[in-house]
Amino acid sequence: MISQGDWIILWNPDSAELLNVSGETKRVPGLGIVDTKRFVGMPYGSSIDLGRQSYHVLRPSLRQAPEFMRRGPQIIQPIMTSVIIHKCDIKSGDRIVEGGAGSGMLTAALLRAVGDRGRVYTYEKVEEHLEVARFNVETLGFGASWVPRVGDVTGDLEERDMDAFVVDIPQPWDALETAGRVLRGGGAFLAYVPTTNQVERTHNAMRALGFQDLECSEIIERTMVVNDGGIRPSFKGLGHNGYIIRGTKTVGNPA
Ligand SMILES: C[S@@+](CC[C@H](N)C(=O)[O-])C[C@H]1O[C@@H](n2cnc3c(N)ncnc32)[C@H](O)[C@@H]1O
Repeated sequence: MISQGDWIILWNPDSAELLNVSGETKRVPGLGIVDTKRFVGMPYGSSIDLGRQSYHVLRPSLRQAPEFMRRGPQIIQPIMTSVIIHKCDIKSGDRIVEGGAGSGMLTAALLRAVGDRGRVYTYEKVEEHLEVARFNVETLGFGASWVPRVGDVTGDLEERDMDAFVVDIPQPWDALETAGRVLRGGGAFLAYVPTTNQVERTHNAMRALGFQDLECSEIIERTMVVNDGGIRPSFKGLGHNGYIIRGTKTVGNPA
C-alpha cells in the first residue's frame, strides 16, 4: 500500500513521472496539477487515469531509474551495475569504497547489494554531483548504508579492509595505490571506463602494482522487439557501453 511520504512513479510506455506522495497538490510535467492524497492507501501496481492518459502507479525501481532519475553526469547503464557487482563478488554486509558518485546510479546498485549490514563509502569531487546522487539514492530508498563524502578518491582515504574498490572516474590508474592500501587481501578493484586507451593504461598500472586475476570485458545488452509475426533486435540498442577492468589485491600488493 502507498503511504504518505512515499515516492511513486506514474508510468506508461511513453513516460515515467516521479512524484512524492506528500499529501499536497503538485504540478507534474505533462499532467498539470495532481492531488497526491488520492494515492494514499492505493496498492502499488494500480491503474489510474489522469487527464487523457492512463498510468500504472509503481514503486521507483533501479531497473527503470534512467527513465525518471535526476540527471547530473552521465549515468552507468543498469545492466552494467549488475555485472560490476558480480565481477567484484559483492554481497550483503560488504564494505565498499566507490569513486565518482556522478548521478548515483551505481551508488544505488551497490547500496542495494550490500544491504543494511554493509557500507558504501562514496567519494565525489564535485559537491553538486553528490547532491544529485543524494536525491536519486534517497528517492530509490537506499540511503541507510551510505557514507557520502566530498573528496578525491585517489587521495589518502581513512577506510581499511574494504571488500571492493569501484571507480567510475576518468583516471582510474590514479586510484590504484589508494586502492592497494584500502582493500583487504583478496578484495577487488574495478574500474568502468568508456575508451580502450583508459583500459590499456589502467590494466598496465594494475599489473605493475601486482594486482592479480586481471580481467577486462565489454558488456552490451541486445534488447529484442517482440511483435506477432516478427521478432527482431531493437534499433535502439547501444552500440557501445564502456569497459570494465577488475583485479584482485593479494597481500604483498602496494602497501
Ligand atoms: C561518469 S560520472 C559517474 C557516474 C555514476 N557512476 C553514475 O552511475 O551515476 C564521474 C564522476 O566522477 C567524479 N570524479 C572524477 N574524478 C574523481 C576523483 N578523483 N575522485 C572523486 N570523484 C571524481 C566526477 O565529478 C563525476 O561526478
